[in-house]
Amino acid sequence: MRIIWRLLAFLRPFWGWVVLSVILSAATFFAGIGLLGTSADLIARAALQPGIAALQVSIVGVRFFGISRAVLRYLERLVSHSVNFRLLAQLRVWFYKRLEPLSPARLQDYRSGDVLQRAIGDIETLENFYVRVLAPPLSAILITAGMGWFVGQVDWRLGLVLAGGLLAGGAGISLLAFWIGQKAGAAYVQDRAQLNAEMVSVIQGITDLVAYSQELIVKQRVEHLLEVTSRSQRRLVLGNGLVNGLMVALTNLTLVLVLWFAIPLVEGGALEGYRLAVLAVLTLASFEAVNSLPQAAQLLRGNVESAARLFELSDQTPAVVEPVCPVKVPESQTPRLSINHLTFRYADRSMPTLNDISLSLTPPKKIAIVGESGAGKSTIIQLLLRYWEYEKGEILLNGVDYKNLDSRDIRRFFGVVSATPYLFSATLRQNLLIARPDADKQQLLTIIERVGLKNWLDSLPNGLDTWVGEHGKLMSGGERQRLAAGRALLSNAPFILLDEPTSGLDSLSELQLMQTLFNLFRERSILWVTHRLIDMEQMDEIIVLQAGQVIERGKHNRLLAAGGIYAGLWQGQQRIFWD
Ligand SMILES: Nc1ncnc2c1ncn2[C@@H]1O[C@H](COP(=O)(O)OP(=O)(O)OP(=O)(O)O)[C@@H](O)[C@H]1O
Ligand SMILES: [Mg+2]
Repeated sequence: MRIIWRLLAFLRPFWGWVVLSVILSAATFFAGIGLLGTSADLIARAALQPGIAALQVSIVGVRFFGISRAVLRYLERLVSHSVNFRLLAQLRVWFYKRLEPLSPARLQDYRSGDVLQRAIGDIETLENFYVRVLAPPLSAILITAGMGWFVGQVDWRLGLVLAGGLLAGGAGISLLAFWIGQKAGAAYVQDRAQLNAEMVSVIQGITDLVAYSQELIVKQRVEHLLEVTSRSQRRLVLGNGLVNGLMVALTNLTLVLVLWFAIPLVEGGALEGYRLAVLAVLTLASFEAVNSLPQAAQLLRGNVESAARLFELSDQTPAVVEPVCPVKVPESQTPRLSINHLTFRYADRSMPTLNDISLSLTPPKKIAIVGESGAGKSTIIQLLLRYWEYEKGEILLNGVDYKNLDSRDIRRFFGVVSATPYLFSATLRQNLLIARPDADKQQLLTIIERVGLKNWLDSLPNGLDTWVGEHGKLMSGGERQRLAAGRALLSNAPFILLDEPTSGLDSLSELQLMQTLFNLFRERSILWVTHRLIDMEQMDEIIVLQAGQVIERGKHNRLLAAGGIYAGLWQGQQRIFWD
């Protein structure tokens, strides 16, 4: 119930339109019933050959209801769909705004297909919420009351029977449908979500699956999920059939009861005989208004399920809660970044991932962080980008603690080149523009030239408008890294974070790319996370990290002379390189 209230809250800005649409919908039903009623009246009376003058009122009635029904139906569709699409647009924007701060820390617990299913499938399911779930019962209430009263004018028992029949259909059979929907509908929504999540993950990893000849096994798994999904869909459809059958039976039962009470009235002279036909047709026509209610009840179940999945994700608190009144980062000619005694632990770990880390950066200072895999190097970068909240210590940007700053304001100061930069399935131009949306063509071409991609660009027939393929698949690893460097360059950020930007490249390309990066970012500060100890002489400081702790730090020559862990790593790599 709470979920339904929360969904209704989204309708608040449009409630005037909602009321209008319910009134139009009820009016359309009334016009439909009126059309059939006056038609039956016309035909039944005409059979008695009373002369054209006596039929005038019925003829005008048929015309009036015929035309008004068409006009009302059109207006009702116009208003209800406009409310619906506005509601959907509002839901989509709201969900995206909630999702953004959850990334990446909270979203890592979800499969990307699942998040996609929530953002697209579940919101699409809610498309039904207004037009097919909420509006029909409201107009059915108006029809039941209106027709009960109207037929009750002839005899109160007739009104009672009709209203009772409509109520039993609208409420009783709908409850049954809701109960079926609760079981089969919920199962179907979940099975479908699971199937979609699996399909997305299979399609994303298809190349590796084929390489390991796993496609048949995966095919079987997908087929199994398909089977499960179609089984729950079949159960849902069977339930629908039962409900439809019951509704037809109830309609006819009501008709029989209406005639049961009406025929004696004709015999007693209280009702003209031809009016029996009108009563019968009015009864059947009234049921049109409740026919769609069982389906609405079933859809309600699916809607609640989908809404629950949306709220479950959107209700997560972001890993980093933004300050209520953020301080603006003070402008400064020489930006300063300092990490003081920083300690951090991932929520599911018992030991701290980083322990008492301190460092400071001011352009053009360059720091390298080296250390074994899992030492916590990338975690430092993630903390600097404000992806996670830390426990102890502080990070200061121009003297202000991160906890008092807005994340967006912080991220303006950083350019990132990671081991696997994310390229969007878009053009080269669009991939560069994410770093500075207002950059013009000349600026982009200059950047391309500076990162060493000019020759490559010249070989492309579409130049900057070349599509880079799914996640940049049509580019080589080195080209992707250079493009990512171009983004960092374009952003003008004073601090450049390099997280193993050359991984996956051969030694020569690695040297070339690192030289390019050092040249490009000569004026800026670099924090370079690396396994490979090249160009270490250029670094102002090298920090050796082990299990989240700094075990050695200093300049290359001093560390070599000290003969510690760094010296060992260096000598090891030299040997491998020269052998
Ligand atoms: N999102 C996460 N949730 C939980 N634990 C994590 C997460 N990311 C990393 N870890 C753990 O934190 C530790 C440090 O990881 P981190 O990625 O910082 O290492 P790294 O030094 O960059 O290693 P590599 O050189 O392999 O990239 C590892 O033990 C890792 O398993
Ligand atoms: Mg790493």
